[in-house]
Order: sequence, then C-alpha cells, then structure tokens
Amino acid sequence: MLAGGSHWRKSSSVECRRTTADPRPRSSYQSLVPFTAAYGFGARVVSRPVESSKAFEHVLVVGAGQMGGGIAQVVAASGRRVSLHDAAPGAVERGLEAMRKSLTKLAEKGGADPDEVLARVQPADDLVPADLMIEAVIESAPVKADVFRRADELFAPEAILASNTSSIPITTLGAATGRPERVIGMHFFNPVPVLKLVEVIRGLETAAETAQAIVQLARDLGKEPAEAQDFPGFVSNRILMPFINEAVYAVLEGVAEPEAIDTIAKLGFAHPIGPLALADLIGLDTCVAIMDVLHEGLGDPKYAPCPLLRQYVQAGRLGRKSGRGFYAY
Ligand code: CAA
Repeated sequence: MLAGGSHWRKSSSVECRRTTADPRPRSSYQSLVPFTAAYGFGARVVSRPVESSKAFEHVLVVGAGQMGGGIAQVVAASGRRVSLHDAAPGAVERGLEAMRKSLTKLAEKGGADPDEVLARVQPADDLVPADLMIEAVIESAPVKADVFRRADELFAPEAILASNTSSIPITTLGAATGRPERVIGMHFFNPVPVLKLVEVIRGLETAAETAQAIVQLARDLGKEPAEAQDFPGFVSNRILMPFINEAVYAVLEGVAEPEAIDTIAKLGFAHPIGPLALADLIGLDTCVAIMDVLHEGLGDPKYAPCPLLRQYVQAGRLGRKSGRGFYAY
C-alpha cells in the first residue's frame, strides 16, 4: 500500500520528513545548494536488494520514437506484455522496424528470438490501461502533462505512471494527476537496448514504495538504477548538456571543426563518441529543449543554449533523425 501525501525519505545519512509546506526555494541555483546539502540529497547508485516479484505484467509505452521504441523493446524482452501507442501516424510501425533491427543484432549475440519479443508488443491506437505507463513523447511539459492527465483518468488507482523525461520536473507531471505518489521518472539512455543506466527520479510527492517498485523493475530489465532528486536536468543532463553546449560554442567560435572536437573527446577522454556526434544521436531539438529547462529552472545564464544549436534546429538540422546535424547521415 502506498502512502500518499507527506512521507518519510531516507538518504545516505539523514532521515527527513517532507511536508506539504516544503520551504524549498526553486528559482535560483545558489538557493538550492544549502537545501540539498542540509537534507543530504544527491544521486546515488541504489544497491539495497528489493524483494523480487513479476510486477507490471502489462506496460503501456507512449511514444514510439528512438527512446519509446527502445523502452518497449527491453520491457517486452523481459517477458512482459507491451502496448505501444504513438499519436503520429506510422510512428509505431517505424518503431517496430527499429526494434526488429536491434533485436536481430542482439539475437546474433545469443539474445532472444526477435519474433518472440515482438509478439509481446501490441500497437495501440490510443492510451490503454495497464499496470504501468512509461511515457516517452516529445520533451514538452504541456504535451507530457496531457498524457499524464489522460492516463490518470484511464488507469486503475494502484497503477504507476512513469516518464522517460530527460529534464521536465516529475513534480509537475505528478500534479497533473490525482495520484502524485504514484508518478515517477524512469529515465533511460539511448540506445536503450545497449546502455545500462536508468535514472530513477522521485517527484516531491512520489512515495518510497513507488520508487522501490521502479528500481526493482529496472533491475528486472537488466539495467542499473541510480536515484536522483527532482531538480532541473536531474543528474545526467545537468552534466551532459553543458558539455555538449560548450562543444557547440567551440564550433561557433571557430576553435575547431566538429571532427576535431569529437576526436579530442574520444581519444583524450575515452568517450565512446564525441559530444557533437552524441548531440546528433540525441537530437538537437531535444538538446535545446533540455538546455531551456536547465536555464529556466536553475536560473543561471551559463545554461542558455548556444545560439548555433538553436539555429541548426530552426534550419531543420536535428541530427540523425533528420539526416543532418553537425554531420550528414
Ligand atoms: N541495439 C542493439 N545493439 C546495438 C544498438 C542497438 N540499438 N546500437 C549499437 N548496438 C551494438 C552494435 O551492434 C555493436 O555490437 P558489437 O560490438 O557486438 O558489434 C555495439 O553495440 C557497438 O556499436 P557500433 O560498433 O555500431 O558503434 P559504437 O561502438 O560507437 O557503439 C554506441 C555505439 C553504443 C551508441 C556507442 O557509441 C555509445 O555508447 N555512445 C554513447 C551513447 C550515449 O552517451 N548515450 C546517452 C545519450 S543521453 C540520453 O540518452 C538521455 C538524455 O536524456 C538525452
């Protein structure tokens, strides 16, 4: 049974009580620091074992793009039934095609039979009730809030609603529903079938039991969960996006060509790909959207998106998905 409303949370060394009259200031980076320090918050790899059970037998994934498709794939590969919905015509079919390609690669290395996995994925014309929703639509707060509002009306009260958002506050999505204690961030990394991390983000009202269930699910999917609190960009994008943005400034200021910048990151820092190739993989529109959230949420000009990044998006150069970003595909 989940405890809603005020609840207790345990961090590494401090146990603290959250009340509805939470005094947390929200508008500036500086004012957040003492709050986080005093409460002992921060990201941590979760290592406590949680009792295992085959939870979430049926999962609705909303959004069939590179993230949603990858999430549907790993959930189906874990033996669960998946309904896959995308409002854009043809998107589910494209998602299924990408899943087949990925599953075929994995099958060559001893992975599951692609037909068996795909047989567990059912296209859905609209939202359908399930034990869990994982939303992976575009990085837009109103669009995501609308999905959460509609799912809240449709799903059984005990179901959990999760978002794969990279940066939009989980608290805002929870507030769009009547069950904020069952709303959580479940942030996967691209390519989802390959990368092991799931960043698990609790909103202000998310119950500890909800977080435990999602941490356990991430493990069931073969991933490593790490918990973060609900501050703009969480941990992953607070670190990654300024790195990418700075690389774009280096292009804008003529410091080096994109190839040279990426070579420096690959060979000098042993990154698998450079920041500009990674921006193309993520999508430049998504990078701008995340930088906007960091900029607005943390209130520091250092997070403003580089004008060149914005200009590429205006030109339709979105990265791999549009065929051109910092590189041509
Ligand atoms: N499905 C299955 N297998 C895949 C795959 C997919 N979608 N994509 C790649 N692979 C496999 C390849 O088949 C290959 O397997 P073998 O080694 O057995 O041949 C292996 O992964 C490596 O792939 P490649 O040889 O094609 O290329 P690579 O070595 O450059 O790896 C990569 C590709 C895994 C994408 C690697 O470049 C990488 O890890 N890049 C970093 C990606 C990253 O940082 N992602 C995080 C983005 S941030 C995010 O997602 C969240 C956000 O909020 C923005």
